Amino acid sequence: MTGIRTVTLALTGASGMPYGIRLLECLLQARMRVYLMYSQAAQIVARQEMELSLPARAKDTEAFFTERFSPEAGQLRVFGREEWFAPVASGSNPADAMVVCPCTMGTLASIAAGLSDNLIERAADVMLKERRPLVLVPRETPLSSIHLQNMLRLSDAGATILPANPGFYHHPQNVDALIDFVVARILDQLRIDHTLMSRWGDAHNPDA
Ligand SMILES: Cc1cc2nc3c(=O)[nH]c(=O)nc-3n(C[C@H](O)[C@H](O)[C@H](O)COP(=O)(O)O)c2cc1C
Repeated sequence: MTGIRTVTLALTGASGMPYGIRLLECLLQARMRVYLMYSQAAQIVARQEMELSLPARAKDTEAFFTERFSPEAGQLRVFGREEWFAPVASGSNPADAMVVCPCTMGTLASIAAGLSDNLIERAADVMLKERRPLVLVPRETPLSSIHLQNMLRLSDAGATILPANPGFYHHPQNVDALIDFVVARILDQLRIDHTLMSRWGDAHNPDA
């Protein structure tokens, strides 16, 4: 069982938006309290990859996902990019963990540099300074030395770099299985129980 009850989830404008939306669904299903944020570029990518129109106003997005995933009252809160009075902005009231999924090279660089120029970057900065779990799910290929150095810097500062790299050893039959592979790895990092896919070793040994 996990000690994590509240998770901040930030969607940024990298390819791989289905990972972020599926993660949101799974976190809510696992009865986590979720603080959701998204960048402007995330809105563009969500529309391009999923035909999903994330409203400009946080309150409208909260209503949208409440309708879609039916969380309990107060379980999902959505914050705008400059909502500096949100709990995630302060080390006095951070979530138990934060995930940026998908994570652009731009946001990754800003977090590595400690810019805190919007609420996503500030929330990530707070997690690092408070030494709480911060999971970054970058998607880019190939990676430049700048990308790699930023990732190393963040890893050294305590973040987990979890690239959106699905494996194929579970013989995925469709795209949803590839998405669930990555989401399962993120939930594992947060120690949140799930049944998205069988664990290595268990499938071949049902008595285990
Ligand atoms: C359709 C689309 C796909 C993109 N894919 C990626 C990507 O996979 N990785 C990445 O780092 N940036 C990607 N970008 C570029 C970022 O969206 C861009 O750098 C943006 O300024 C990042 O802003 P953000 O970090 O605030 O979301 C993509 C942009 C678009 C429109």
